[in-house]
Amino acid sequence: MKRYEVLADAIAREIRSGNLPVGSRLPSLRQITAQHGVSQSTVFRAYYLLEEWGLIRARERSGYFVAPGAGISLPQTPQPAQAPAQRAAALAQSAKVDISDLVFSVLEAAKHPGFVPLGSAFPSPRLFPLQRLAKSLGQASRLVNAWSTVVDLPPGNEQLRRQIALRYLAIGIAQPIEEIVVTNGALEALNLCLMAVTRPGDVVAVESPGFYAALQAIERLDLRAVEIPANPVTGLDLDALAEALQTQPIRACWFMTNFQNPTGVTLTVEKKKALVELLAEHDIPLIEDDVYGELHFDSDYPLPARAFDKKGLVMHCSSFSKTLAPGYRIGWVAAGRHADKVQRLKLMTTLSASIPDQAGIADYLQHGGYDKHLRKLRGALRSQLADMNAALTRWLPPNVRWSQPSGGYFLWLELPATIDAMQLHRLAVERGISVAPGPIFSARHGFRHCIRLNFGHPWSKEIEEAVRTLGSLIEHAGEANGQAGDQAG
Ligand SMILES: Cc1ncc(COP(=O)(O)O)c(C=O)c1O
Repeated sequence: MKRYEVLADAIAREIRSGNLPVGSRLPSLRQITAQHGVSQSTVFRAYYLLEEWGLIRARERSGYFVAPGAGISLPQTPQPAQAPAQRAAALAQSAKVDISDLVFSVLEAAKHPGFVPLGSAFPSPRLFPLQRLAKSLGQASRLVNAWSTVVDLPPGNEQLRRQIALRYLAIGIAQPIEEIVVTNGALEALNLCLMAVTRPGDVVAVESPGFYAALQAIERLDLRAVEIPANPVTGLDLDALAEALQTQPIRACWFMTNFQNPTGVTLTVEKKKALVELLAEHDIPLIEDDVYGELHFDSDYPLPARAFDKKGLVMHCSSFSKTLAPGYRIGWVAAGRHADKVQRLKLMTTLSASIPDQAGIADYLQHGGYDKHLRKLRGALRSQLADMNAALTRWLPPNVRWSQPSGGYFLWLELPATIDAMQLHRLAVERGISVAPGPIFSARHGFRHCIRLNFGHPWSKEIEEAVRTLGSLIEHAGEANGQAGDQAG
């Protein structure tokens, strides 16, 4: 890490922890150079970076100030997902899953092109280098030789797998290329992993709240789910997982360790290590979904659990869908000791990922400036987060709390307990706004007073207006439900 990045990180932490509150003036150049023993140009570069992250703003002739909505010292940090008694009840049994109808009805609303996409799972396509990518695709497909159709069958295009392995190496993971299987997006990778390590009737541990596609895969494969609480601030409850491993015949875990969907939470390195150790003791595979890992706001990629795996038990799944090319449907899994099985399942189900698209992405990774694009994308997401924070602070009632992710593009909001997120979703849809209601993120349709919001779109007056509308819907629903409660009581 460069000196100015270290300095920017240190100041960013001060802002996020609230030690430097919104509106406060940053120390002068002279103070900072003396304090940190760095040159003025290092301080300038750090301040430019913080500005790019949306954390500070310059005021003419007055210096730098913490930006409105930056970082941020919000008191609204969501509470643990479940009380201990509820947790014990949830862990006591695994459940069959029936989530698909609910998810499909919600996703249908989010698909509408005219809607303000606060419920969407995708970032804006405007943030992707589509033209440069098309150039790579054009070039690569002209060069694809007739035998590629055979040679690039699973595990997949060698150039692409080499480029993916190099990205692992860049974060310190020596990933054998033979264990990387290219798939149709991360979702296929995750599903193939689940098929590789379970049989119908088996029990799988998932997070709660967690990504609904995990629940759908469990439902489709006739498995059973044990929901492990995931706290929006501290992440997966490892004690609960340890307890579940003692009491349930768990065959596999499907977790996100970085920028979890829906809460945005990232596990600390210590927790990731402890998770890997715990699963290694029980010899249980971890299907690790890391699709948002590259979208980190601090300078470094937060190491996934895969980095601490010594037994080949972690199956690390990711894709280019959230960072580069959503429509290309190119993902992969570094499948450890299960790589052969995953590769065979890939052949037996969809045979192969598109050959030209694999070659196109390989060419882009090699020549297209992926890292430069990622830096820009992260900067855009950071500043959109600052705008979203500011809008939420401005328009939402004070009793709404939300998470502060350090990457990705989701915020998890806890509304007052009187608000029904499904009702809010319906009212928002009537006004041309999508939101993702809490119940789609749990097998038991819990989190009825929570919603997930997407900040992956360039800030606009439509988004600001949509947040304002949400604020007034929440306020009125709260008043109406509160009154109904008073009358009933
Ligand atoms: C957490 C998570 N995992 C996996 C996926 C699927 O990724 P892909 O589009 O690469 O299949 C998504 C997409 O919404 C996601 O949010």
